[in-house]
Amino acid sequence: MQTDNYVRKSLELHLFFGRIMKEHSLFLQASFTPVDAEYADKAAFYRKGFEDLLRQTVSMSDGLVSGEVLCSGEIVTEFTLDAEDRTECLTGLPVDQHITQKTKCLTPGERSIPRCNEKRTMVRQLNRTALRLLEGLIGLKEEILECVQHGSMFTTNYPLLIEHILREAKLYQRYITTLEKTGNLSDCSMLETERFWNQIMMEHALFIRGLLDPCEKELIHTADDSAKGFCELMEHSRNAHSKANALEQTTALRDFKAAGTQGILECKIRSVILPLLADHVLREANHYIRLLKD
Ligand SMILES: [Fe+2]
Ligand SMILES: [Fe+2]
Repeated sequence: MQTDNYVRKSLELHLFFGRIMKEHSLFLQASFTPVDAEYADKAAFYRKGFEDLLRQTVSMSDGLVSGEVLCSGEIVTEFTLDAEDRTECLTGLPVDQHITQKTKCLTPGERSIPRCNEKRTMVRQLNRTALRLLEGLIGLKEEILECVQHGSMFTTNYPLLIEHILREAKLYQRYITTLEKTGNLSDCSMLETERFWNQIMMEHALFIRGLLDPCEKELIHTADDSAKGFCELMEHSRNAHSKANALEQTTALRDFKAAGTQGILECKIRSVILPLLADHVLREANHYIRLLKD
């Protein structure tokens, strides 16, 4: 039986990145002051758009995605539902938890899935919708970054965080474009992947450090150490042991993020970190760990 990588890889991509984009939009929407209500509305448009995309993806994915992806903790974690619930209460922004509940019930598919023209057509449509939404969201992120850098807008997001989520959106866009051109993602270089995600992990450690209450000295120290470790990894990314080192450091950061997410949900950690942001960076670490183990 022929493996339909186009269908599988597209669905796996949207299950991870579609959710990530929906949450970036929520983080943007929650970060504006009343004077920029118009931008909050623009972010809400993409939050809803990616939520629809994710809902559609989940409804198509049962039996078609790999067990590795479903079990990796990159799509949902044990904290996601609680984090969504708490974030909805704290921000007043709606989060459709049915999508997460349905995602948790997805069953993995066989290693080989048959080619089916009807499914391929539906997935092609999904990819087109994602590309259209991404073009708009990338433009919005660029516009916000420009306004912030020129002093004409205040948001509670660091400028580096806006740059960071912009890079993640562009990576998602590149992957879909590659899938549409070649039908697969097998040509993506691991060295590029390591470079990209090592920087992302370093920045997560920096964001966590900066969003913790100044009293949380021990956690700030751990986050600082993690950021330094990734910074060194980035300087020696051609080293023969770089992949093993990246796996070790990302696993340590993932465990720190998991403990942090639990601490935030239990109100045991003082911070200005939204519960869903804590779970979001945890899922991104789980995603990178799966790629490193591949
Ligand atoms: Fe992200
Ligand atoms: Fe990130």
